[in-house]
Amino acid sequence: MSNSRPLALVTGASSGIGADLARELARDGHDLVLAARRVAAMQTLADELKGLGASATVIAADLSKPGAAAALVGELASRKLVIDVLVNNSGLGDHAEFVAEDMTRISEMLQVNMVALTELTRLLAPGMVQRRRGRILLVASTAAFQPGPHMAVYCASKSYVLSLGEAIGHELRGSGVDVTVLCPGATLTEFSKVASTEGMALHRSPIASRMSSAEVARQGYAALKRGRRVIVTGAMNSVAALLVRFLPRATVISMAATALSKA
Ligand SMILES: NC(=O)c1ccc[n+]([C@@H]2O[C@H](COP(=O)([O-])OP(=O)(O)OC[C@H]3O[C@@H](n4cnc5c(N)ncnc54)[C@H](OP(=O)(O)O)[C@@H]3O)[C@@H](O)[C@H]2O)c1
Repeated sequence: MSNSRPLALVTGASSGIGADLARELARDGHDLVLAARRVAAMQTLADELKGLGASATVIAADLSKPGAAAALVGELASRKLVIDVLVNNSGLGDHAEFVAEDMTRISEMLQVNMVALTELTRLLAPGMVQRRRGRILLVASTAAFQPGPHMAVYCASKSYVLSLGEAIGHELRGSGVDVTVLCPGATLTEFSKVASTEGMALHRSPIASRMSSAEVARQGYAALKRGRRVIVTGAMNSVAALLVRFLPRATVISMAATALSKA
């Protein structure tokens, strides 16, 4: 590294939670590598981060393409960028009935939400372990805690992220590398437009008001710094995540189906 500021890679830094996580990291003394498809949005963010004292490198990456994680890590190596903090945030959802769901969309979700996240972690964690220093944040969702009819693939992909993060976190105890899984509930970002979730019962419920991405990032980053294994943002979301452990599975699935249904 060319200076002493730790370096953080944030995927999905072109909008929403990822952009706000990059702001949190910059405010806390990190330089940034921003990766996603929309370069112009990340360039604007990089300029903003300069005002917070951080330098930011923008790398275009389409993580839905097989091999994209390895290509990104190759790009980091060729620029001699050593990552101290990995934030796996890129992700997308899809509101659809499984039997009619677009196959390309399914493949994109699996690649971005699970494959690229796993490969980036597998490729960057060994260096952190060797240096006995590092932090890894995996962005899952409250969707991880139960199956989600009408968003079956998305919810299953987030269950994978939660399971992976908890297991890796356990394996890496005492290594100097902390793993935190961030589980936001409904958050005001571009996610709902991309995933076509507008109009879902969940979003109309008075007890499930959507949080701002800035608040989700604030809570997620604080948990990462404390080395917490799992953080659910928002009191109601925490209660719901706890409750599903004690209710019969069939009841939980019916409740999720209702919450995720559209009028
Ligand atoms: N908003 C919610 O209600 C909510 C709730 C729970 C969890 N989450 C999770 O939070 C994370 C961030 O989502 P968000 O809410 O901030 O939504 P968002 O504003 O839509 O941001 C999604 C980010 O993922 C990136 N991304 C999507 N496809 C990509 C691809 N093929 N290659 C590289 N990057 C890609 C996007 O960048 P480009 O389009 O520029 O590539 C964008 O920066 C996701 O993992 C999401 O599942 C969101």
